[in-house]
Amino acid sequence: MKIAIISASIRHGRQTHFVSEELGRRLNASNDIEASLVDLADYAFPLFQDTHKADAPQHGADELRTILQQADGLLFVSPEYNGSYTAALKNMADHFSKAEFNKKAIGVVSVSSGAIGGMRGALQMQQLVLALYAYPIPQMMLVSEVQHKFDEEGKLTDEAFAKKLDTYLQEFLWFASAIYEKKKRGNRG
Ligand SMILES: Cc1cc2nc3c(=O)[nH]c(=O)nc-3n(C[C@H](O)[C@H](O)[C@H](O)COP(=O)(O)O)c2cc1C
Repeated sequence: MKIAIISASIRHGRQTHFVSEELGRRLNASNDIEASLVDLADYAFPLFQDTHKADAPQHGADELRTILQQADGLLFVSPEYNGSYTAALKNMADHFSKAEFNKKAIGVVSVSSGAIGGMRGALQMQQLVLALYAYPIPQMMLVSEVQHKFDEEGKLTDEAFAKKLDTYLQEFLWFASAIYEKKKRGNRG
């Protein structure tokens, strides 16, 4: 099963990308999972205007479209910025069509330096997932005080947090694989 991790913090000095990388390591530790880390900092999409124009800049859109199309499930990993998810995530979603996301399980992971862990960003990401005709898994992963969970190289240093990540991934994979199996069966049940 293929999972795309959309890492939606693009600022210099970002902490959220450590969370995305850790999720990728944990998913790829399983033989059945192939996780791709999509760093939105690598896809400098202009603010969405009109991608149908022949001369519209592509900025890796074809490559990313293929990754999205091949993904059986996705994780949206975003910091909470001003009570929401990042403009980079919304801009990426607007550049593609619902077809890339339709009927896929999407887990939301919201990251914050504060104590609450980006609850508002997570709720809004779940609304975005619905707008893409995808299925938000009911559990959300709220990462509070991210600055205390990794060292400077991005190595996870908080064991309790590691357990929470694994519990969340188990829930996510339950939903993602249920949908994946259903698609494989097609109309046979
Ligand atoms: C523009 C901006 C807005 C922010 N707004 C919030 C917020 O609404 N709630 C919050 O808990 N943290 C907020 N933060 C702090 C982030 O939680 C913090 O930067 C954290 O490290 C995760 O984001 P990062 O990936 O940019 O590092 C904001 C940070 C920036 C740069």
